[in-house]
This record gives sequence, structure tokens and C-alpha cells, in this order.
Amino acid sequence: MELKNNSTIGIVGLGLMGASIATALLLNGQKVVAVSPIVSYLDKTAPDRIRHSLEVCLQEGLTKKTPDEFLKNISYTSDYADLKKCWLVMECVSENLAIKKGVYEKIEACISDEVIITSNTSAMPISMLQNHCKVPERFFGMHWDEPSYTSPFLEIVCGEKSPIEVGEQLHAIATQWGKEPTLVRKDIRGFITNRIMYAMYREAFNLVENGYATIADVDRACKNDGGRWMSFCGLFRYMDLTGLKAYHAVMKDLFPELSNQTTVPKLIDDIAKADGNGVSNGKGFYDYTPEEAKKWKETFERFSFDMNRLSTDYAKRISDIPSKKNQA
Ligand SMILES: NC(=O)c1ccc[n+]([C@@H]2O[C@H](COP(=O)([O-])OP(=O)(O)OC[C@H]3O[C@@H](n4cnc5c(N)ncnc54)[C@H](O)[C@@H]3O)[C@@H](O)[C@H]2O)c1
Repeated sequence: MELKNNSTIGIVGLGLMGASIATALLLNGQKVVAVSPIVSYLDKTAPDRIRHSLEVCLQEGLTKKTPDEFLKNISYTSDYADLKKCWLVMECVSENLAIKKGVYEKIEACISDEVIITSNTSAMPISMLQNHCKVPERFFGMHWDEPSYTSPFLEIVCGEKSPIEVGEQLHAIATQWGKEPTLVRKDIRGFITNRIMYAMYREAFNLVENGYATIADVDRACKNDGGRWMSFCGLFRYMDLTGLKAYHAVMKDLFPELSNQTTVPKLIDDIAKADGNGVSNGKGFYDYTPEEAKKWKETFERFSFDMNRLSTDYAKRISDIPSKKNQA
């Protein structure tokens, strides 16, 4: 199956991720049809967020074009029928199966059978989601991160019924959008990065809940160890760089002692049940005044642009290193 890429992409769900992905696509010359059934998102929230992100991209030198030059390529609508001009429709609605199922039904009622649908789900199995579609073979995971417009990250995930050759075409197209995508050839819950990150989160809770370190100590250690090198290279390259035999020796004794807890840790359970959501409402693992929360958000945004500059520079240096094998 040859994909009919006409550069018009639908996005359904205009929350944090839908707006962020729309910005990334606009910056890379795509046309976007942005669908939300919620009028406040169409009138203000999403358009304001996308305009703001494009303004910051201009200020930070990620583009030379003004927001208006990009914004002529996006249309906002509550009518799913407007998706019929798209070759690809990305679902970015809340992480809730009932909502996602209802949205697939509405999308499929308006598009032809060869149009691809992707989900930005964080951790729902693609093989399960695609079985809620009339045409499961057209369905893939396309997992972005935030902010999508400064990060080269993208996971393209095949479900049991998604043809790998179509996944490969999506991978090639995403590369043209400026991404450095990963193709997950066989579906697995959490895909790649979330599986790795959640293994880390589990151990972080284990250390804090059992009194080995405070939350701030764990954060500091992660930031100054993995946080320093992970944007330069991945785990396997790092073991090569620093001598894999040392890792081999440590694994035998350390793996049996790492947490394999299967329940949600009490520490996060208590905060979530008391309605804590972190920076967005000031109550999380740390507490934030509104001014502090604003500063954290601004500083994170700033950091993601600086990081993007540095990692783009190093991605180029790395691509100049000759490679022998196992590079795919
Ligand atoms: N937040 C992240 O960092 C992140 C990262 C990667 C993936 N994701 C995934 O992306 C998806 C969206 O997450 P988000 O963070 O943007 O959430 P969000 O709450 O900011 O946005 C969800 C959007 O879905 C819309 N929505 C709810 N019900 C709907 C319906 N019936 N029809 C159409 N739209 C509906 C809401 O109006 C809202 O705009 C989730 O599957 C999430 O797991 C999130």
C-alpha cells in the first residue's frame, strides 16, 4: 500500500499534545485540520497556545517565519467531515478508552479506507485500540512528546494488524518532518521510552518510600547523571563508551535487588487522590506558589529550546562519524 501523502493532516483533540503536535507539523510545512468538539478549545485555548508556541519558536530562532505565515495553514473545526481532505488523522484525545473508541467511530464515518489513523496514546496497546476500528490495518501508534516542536522524538508503533511496510513509510515521512523517529515493529504496552522511564520511576519511588534518599536527592542524582548524557546517546552506546564489562559485572548482583513492585506507589497515590497534579495546580511532589509554577514552566520551555540547539548540533557531528553495523 502506497501512502497518499498530500501534506494535509487531521488532528482530533486539541489539549496540550494536540496543540503541540499541530505546532510541530505547521513548522514543517504541513497543513492541519484541527478538530475538537469542545468550542472553548476551538475559540481560544488551542489557537492561543499554538500562536504562543510559534511566537516563541520565532524568538528562539527555530524559524524565521512569523506565526501568521504558518497559521494560514491551519483550520479549526468541530465538524469531523472536514477530515475528508486528510491523508492522515492523528487522535490526541484524553487517555480514556471509551473516549478514544467514540472518536475512532466518528473519524472513520468521514474518511475513506486508505486514510491512516494514528493514536498518541501513552501506553494503550495499539493492537487493542486498532480492533475498535472498522479498518484495523490503517491504524498505528504515533507517540509524540512535549514540546513536540522542539523534540526529535517520535515513536511509530505497529499493532498486530498494521502492515510493517506502511509503518516504514510513516517512518520515512516523519523523518522529512525533521524527526528522528523510532519504528516499534511489534506492539508492546508502553512502547520503548515509557517502558524504560517507568522502570526508572518505580525504582525512584522504591528509594524514597524506603528511606534511602529524599525526593530532591533522587531528582538531583538523575539530573546530574543520566540527565547529562542521555541527549547525547542512548543506553547501549553509553555502555560502549564507558566500558560494557563494568555493566556486565554489576547486573548480576544489582538486578535481583531492584524493585519489581506491581502496584501504584503510595507516595503518588496519596497525592493524586488529594487532587495534586504538580505544577499545573501547585500541588505535587513539591509545592508551588503560582509565581513559582510560572517560572518552572517558562524555564522548562527555555531549556527545551537550548537543548534542541545543542542536540541538533551534536546529531550532526554524530551523523558524520562513520558507522559499521547495528546502526538501524
Ligand atoms: N501530556 C503529555 O506529555 C503526553 C505525552 C505523550 C502522549 N500523551 C497522550 O496524548 C493524549 C492527549 O493527552 P494531553 O496531554 O494532550 O491531554 P489533554 O487533557 O491536555 O487533552 C485532551 C483533549 O482531548 C479532548 N477530548 C476529550 N474528550 C473528547 C472527545 N470525546 N472528542 C474529542 N476530543 C475530546 C479534550 O477536550 C482535550 O482537549 C493522551 O492519550 C495522552 O496519554 C500525553
